[in-house]
Formats: sequence, structure tokens, C-alpha cells
Amino acid sequence: MACFLSLTKPTIPLFVSLLLLLLLPLSMGISSSKIRTTLDGPFEPVTVPLPSGFRGLTLDLPDTDPRVQRTVKGFEPEQISVSLSSSHDSVWISWITGEFQIGDNIKPLNPKSVASVVRYGKLRFPLSHRATGYSLVYNQLYPFEGLQNYSSGIIHHVRLTGLKPDTLYYYRCGDPSISAMSNIHYFRTVPASGPRSYPKRIALVGDLGLTYNTTSTVSHLARNNPDLIVLVGDVSYANLYLTNGTGSDCYSCDFSHTPIHETYQPRWDYWGRFMQPVVSKVPLMVVEGNHELEEQAKNMTFMSYSSRFAFPYEESGSSSTFYYSFNVGGIHFIMLGAYIAYEKLLLSISVVLNLTSQSYQQVHAYERSNRDPCGPVYITVGDGGNREKMATAHADEPGNCPDPSTTPDPIMGGFCVSNFTSGPAAGKFCWDRQPDYSAYRESSFGHGILEVKNETHALWTWHRNQDMYKKAGDQIYIVRQPHKCPIRPKVIQTLERRKVIPIT
Ligand SMILES: *[C@@H]1O[C@H](CO)[C@@H](O)[C@H](O)[C@H]1NC(C)=O
Ligand SMILES: *[C@@H]1O[C@H](CO)[C@@H](O)[C@H](O)[C@H]1NC(C)=O
Ligand SMILES: *[C@@H]1O[C@H](CO)[C@@H](O)[C@H](O)[C@H]1NC(C)=O
Ligand SMILES: *[C@@H]1O[C@H](CO)[C@@H](O)[C@H](O)[C@H]1NC(C)=O
Ligand SMILES: *[C@@H]1O[C@H](CO)[C@@H](O)[C@H](O)[C@H]1NC(C)=O
Ligand SMILES: *[C@@H]1O[C@H](CO)[C@@H](O)[C@H](O)[C@H]1NC(C)=O
Ligand SMILES: *[C@@H]1O[C@H](CO)[C@@H](O)[C@H](O)[C@H]1NC(C)=O
Repeated sequence: MACFLSLTKPTIPLFVSLLLLLLLPLSMGISSSKIRTTLDGPFEPVTVPLPSGFRGLTLDLPDTDPRVQRTVKGFEPEQISVSLSSSHDSVWISWITGEFQIGDNIKPLNPKSVASVVRYGKLRFPLSHRATGYSLVYNQLYPFEGLQNYSSGIIHHVRLTGLKPDTLYYYRCGDPSISAMSNIHYFRTVPASGPRSYPKRIALVGDLGLTYNTTSTVSHLARNNPDLIVLVGDVSYANLYLTNGTGSDCYSCDFSHTPIHETYQPRWDYWGRFMQPVVSKVPLMVVEGNHELEEQAKNMTFMSYSSRFAFPYEESGSSSTFYYSFNVGGIHFIMLGAYIAYEKLLLSISVVLNLTSQSYQQVHAYERSNRDPCGPVYITVGDGGNREKMATAHADEPGNCPDPSTTPDPIMGGFCVSNFTSGPAAGKFCWDRQPDYSAYRESSFGHGILEVKNETHALWTWHRNQDMYKKAGDQIYIVRQPHKCPIRPKVIQTLERRKVIPIT
């Protein structure tokens, strides 16, 4: 569901999310001659509908697909991934050993029974460095008759430190004492923090899931050779399944009679296996969405999300896996999930560039906003291919505006949105046309690539699955004007634990 990522200085209130959506035919070809910049705006709102040829079903990969099956033996590592720590000199390597269990009277594996070791180095042979980490097992338990419990394989996280910036490292992970080490993998560290030091390409994707469309998104994304993948929530969609493995395109309608919102946790393992070829090389940074909530016994939530991924939350001074920050060259990322109260937190954030790109991801479609001269550009990277329906209807079309009382937020309480207080829709719940703040929107599966060129220019490109690899669905330079919009770093110490990382 919701989260945003920010290159920069969010002195800004969170974007108001409009939950519903879409369609008005109008089309905008990407001008082949010159890429427009945000300084050319504000632009007339444009809506591009999903072409009718692309309305095929989004089907989940079945458990019989070879890409989701377990191919290792015994306690050999699987689901290997790399994620960043808070700066260039450190990364996390994560993997899983042993088999998950699901059913009645399961007995969790002992996480201490398999060691967490990474051997790594700049040369393939010998891998001269060694690091050790920690391991854990999580359970997803349902104290209700007929529902099956799940206990994960052993999840390992090891942090490598003292790495050189922008450098290729080789690694193997596992437990050498039982001859269960992985093959050799490699990753590249990010550039050192500082101005004029940027990664080439950052991929952004949301609501990924594990459908055939997901496989198309991930292969397009990998072809773009990103240095980093940022996944802004809604990962495996294991919560569209009952514990017996029966799935649905709309959980709330089909399974409304179950005593708790069930999940089928093996879908997470399938996701980890499917993603390994990409994320064992390219660092993946994740922040939670509503599909990661996964309630279980004792009101526990987000267990799979918090257990499976490594986050630099302690390194960045956060007390929760729900928000954290990290540096990639001259870019400071602030990852804010939707499941934590931000009032104090937002005040305590100090930053860097005011050049901005935020993506507030909720709606299953793509949208880019216009902006005030010094304000941020909001980008919704709607849908990476998940099984739920893509949003193709807009609340601002005739007859589509819902009654405010039908939009309660069952998780956080209250209502998701309230009536507009200013602008042409003041006092109303919906606009009667595509809002002026919306520059471009379309229903498509895809991913975005952000290329920060220098301290003032970042190129944003939306890559739709239906297009050829080199073609852009939407493209714009996000331009910062430091002389007109100077940065006045303001550090407010409301949270003692908060570490502020100013980059100059
Ligand atoms: C999703 O994939 C199916 C085939 O698996 C295809 O028919 C459909 O057009 C795809 N949807 C989009 C929006 O790309
Ligand atoms: C699952 O775990 C819960 C909590 O420990 C327990 O109450 C329940 O009986 C277990 N269910 C099965 C099928 O083993
Ligand atoms: C799973 O449970 C649902 C609801 O009880 C049932 O309709 C479905 O057939 C079950 N699926 C399997 C594979 O047993
Ligand atoms: C779980 O949450 C419900 C509803 O908020 C509450 O009534 C219940 O006491 C909680 N149970 C536990 C074990 O905390
Ligand atoms: C940075 O962006 C914020 C958010 O829109 C804006 O209010 C502010 O004027 C910009 N400039 C500075 C120096 O903060
Ligand atoms: C909000 O807007 C709706 C129409 O869009 C209107 O019916 C309702 O009365 C408004 N609520 C308030 C509190 O103004
Ligand atoms: C920053 O990059 C943009 C786009 O590549 C370029 O047009 C501009 O001249 C660059 N600015 C500086 C100061 O290098």
C-alpha cells in the first residue's frame, strides 16, 4: 500500500492519496526530439487508457513452475539476496536454509543449527574475507480450526563492512562446516556519498506480486541494468491465499467467511526463489505495504516482511523496519512505510537535495504529478504485475465518485481520505475531471528508472511492459533550481535516537 521514497528533503506533507481511479482517451506520444523538463510545466493533465489488447488475465505462477521450486539440497542456501546498509561501505547478504513446514503440529527448525557465514572478496579466488551474522525462524500461526500453521526455513542475515565504493565483490554464503556453501555470486557496491557521485540507474517498482506479468516486469527491469532496485511495498501477495494454498483475485470477496485474513506463506518462498537470479546481484530495498501486514495469532503482524528482508534501520537510527534511510552516492533515500505514525518523524528528517522524486504508491496504475516551482514531483509507480485488478477507472469520471462513508480505513481506523479543503474541488470528495496536479496518468504494468545526472537534473523514465525495451511510456527531467529554491537544512531534534546524515 502506501509508502514513499524520497531523494531529498521532505519538509512536505504526505501526498493525499486518492484511492480510486480512471480513463479518458487522450494520448501523448513521447516527443522523440527533446525530453521535457519539469520547468516546462505545469502540464495539461493527460490520461492514457490501457490498450484493450492488454487486458489479459494476471495469473500467479503456480507452484509447479520450475522458477519457484526448491532446487537446493539439505541446508544449502536458497533465496539469496543483497541489500544495502546505510552507506556505500556495507551491504547485507540474506538467504534461507532448510525447508519450511506447513500443516498441523509443525516443529520449527532450530536457527542455531546452521551457521551464517559469507566469504567474499574482490577476486573470485581466493575469497579472502569472512563475515558472520545471525539467523532466525519465524512462524505464521493461526489458532483456528482448519487453518494450517507455517514455520519458515532458517533465515540468515550477514552484514559485510569495510567495502570499497563502486567495486565488484564476489561472495559465497552458507555454512562451511557442513559443506553447504552457495555458488559464487557477485554484486557491485554503490558510489561513495557526496556531490557529483551518482549511481547510473535506480529501478523503482511497486505491487510486484508473482504473476506472469511480474515475470515480464522483472525481466524488463533486469534488462535496464539497474544498480539498485527499490520495491515500494506489496511484495509476494501471499495474503491472497488461504492456508490450504487456494488463491483468489479478490480475497475480501471470496473468503470473507474465514476467521482471520489467512495467508499461504510458501508464496513468499516462491517469490524469494523467483527473484534470486536478479537480487543476488542487484541490491533490493523494500518497504512494507498493506499486503505485508499478515495478521496471525497474538495479533502479530508483518512477521514475514520483517524477518525475510535485511533493512539498514539500526544503521540509520530507526527503531523499526517500517522506516529507514540510506545513501547511494549523492542521493539520500528515506523509506517510509505507511504503518507507523509520522508526525514526529517527519519533523526530524533533515536532508540534502531538494531535487525530488517521491513515489506514493497505492493505486494500481501509474501517475506523475505536476509540481509547485520548488516542490516535489510525486510519482505513483502503481503496478508491477500483481494479481489484483489494475486500476482503470477514475473517481473523477462521471458516476465514479464514491460516497465518503464507504471508504473507511479498516487497518488504521478513520477514513483513508476526506473532502478537499482547497482548489477547484474544495468541499467535495472528488474532482470532476483529472486534477490539475496530475500531469500524466495511465493504467499499465511496468517499472521506473531514475537516473540522477548531477546535482540539479534527474531523468525519470516509466517503462511499460507492453513496450519494447528502449521505449519510454513517460519521461521527464526533474530539475532543481538551487538559486531559486535554496536548501535550508533544518534539524529538529524531536527524536533523540534519530541520526541525521547531512550530505554536502
Ligand atoms: C499480463 O499478462 C498476460 C499474459 O500472461 C497478457 O495477456 C496481458 O496483456 C498482460 N497485461 C498487461 C497489462 O500487460
Ligand atoms: C497453530 O498454532 C496455534 C497457536 O500456537 C495453535 O493454537 C493451533 O492449534 C495450531 N494449529 C495447528 C493446525 O497445528
Ligand atoms: C481450501 O479451503 C477452501 C475453503 O474451505 C475450499 O473451498 C478449497 O477447496 C480448499 N482447497 C484445497 C486445495 O483443499
Ligand atoms: C488483539 O486485538 C484485539 C482487537 O484490537 C483485542 O481485542 C485483543 O485483546 C488483542 N489480543 C491480544 C492477545 O493482544
Ligand atoms: C523544497 O521542497 C519543499 C517541498 O515542496 C518546498 O516547500 C521548499 O520550498 C523547497 N525548498 C527548500 C529550500 O526547502
Ligand atoms: C464531502 O463531499 C461530498 C460530495 O462529494 C458531500 O456529499 C459531503 O457532504 C461533503 N462532506 C463534508 C463534511 O463537507
Ligand atoms: C546536469 O545534467 C543535465 C542533463 O544531463 C545537463 O543538461 C546540465 O547541463 C547538467 N548541469 C551541470 C551543472 O552539469
